[in-house]
Amino acid sequence: MRKIKDLRAVELKGDYISVINQLKLPHQLEYLDLKTLEDVEKAIKDMVVRGAPLIGIVAAYGFAIGIKQYPDKPEYVYEKLKNTRPTAVNLFWALNRMMDKYNRLKDKDKETLIAELFKEAERIEIGDYHANKSIGGYGEVLIPKKANILTHCNTGALATGGWGTALGVIRSAFENEKDITVFVDETRPYLQGSRLTAWELDYEGIPHYIITDSSAGFLISKKMIDVIIIGADRITLNGDVANKIGSYTLSVLAKYHNIPFYVAAPTSTFDLNTLKGEDIPIEQRSENEVKYCGGCKVAPENSKVINYSFDIVPASNITAIITEKGIIQNPDKEKILKFFNKRSLL
Ligand code: MRU
Repeated sequence: MRKIKDLRAVELKGDYISVINQLKLPHQLEYLDLKTLEDVEKAIKDMVVRGAPLIGIVAAYGFAIGIKQYPDKPEYVYEKLKNTRPTAVNLFWALNRMMDKYNRLKDKDKETLIAELFKEAERIEIGDYHANKSIGGYGEVLIPKKANILTHCNTGALATGGWGTALGVIRSAFENEKDITVFVDETRPYLQGSRLTAWELDYEGIPHYIITDSSAGFLISKKMIDVIIIGADRITLNGDVANKIGSYTLSVLAKYHNIPFYVAAPTSTFDLNTLKGEDIPIEQRSENEVKYCGGCKVAPENSKVINYSFDIVPASNITAIITEKGIIQNPDKEKILKFFNKRSLL
């Protein structure tokens, strides 16, 4: 078995957290202390921390930090954090869990309440790490002994409580001595692939190439890609997946060229209260993220920009969803209800 380094994007330091400032990567590994509700709110909004599971984890710590500051204003703390980013459902999942904990303990003394809230946030973080290790275990079985794998955006330790989802499957395959090469994209608008995923792969010594998003089709047509694997920001009841813009295009290419298209995500990324992908709110971000690249202006001042941060992969384009509890092949509403052992909610 190969050795894998254990990178962590967030660390609890008593009654505040320290996070990797992802805006500074790959140039600098800088840690930022988040000590107030406002610090946490800004870090999520500005994408100092990002990635669906990590947004949930940091928001959970933010809730504990916020209650310490505003012990009698749980709704205020909840709303502030809830309004940071709209698409990743892990944010709302984590905040609802923290609010439940608060409601169960609100009659305790303040010290006990706050200590228990920090413990709950830590359980969310550690739970996510273990979920990812399990996703890695289920997912790596699907990766051939020798494979060229295309992955989109960043789904690694930097996006989660550790190990990663799609990148966790890649880590597990590498750890198990598989002969893999990773093709990394999302090179625009935010360069999450080239800045963050390539940095993580380089850190681990996993062979990889950065490709521009627009090269994916050509490489697939030349049979240079065997498997595509991505993460998810939200998975609806019918199996549609919201993920970083560009994911839909890759899923269409995979279907056309008949190569497997996998989604790796913890069960906290499922939103069973939303029926289908088109009902998911899709974040639109600032036009400057497109007009500027690495601090340089790369577009005319007067041009307008459309900058959706996510798109929707229809369930019919997905070969399987890999979770910590097992794999859902050819996902649809019936299979997802059966997987969660539920009757129809909608
Ligand atoms: O805008 P981001 O960087 O928060 O978007 C991240 C993604 O789209 C990831 O692919 C997704 O959150 C899965 S992370 C395990």
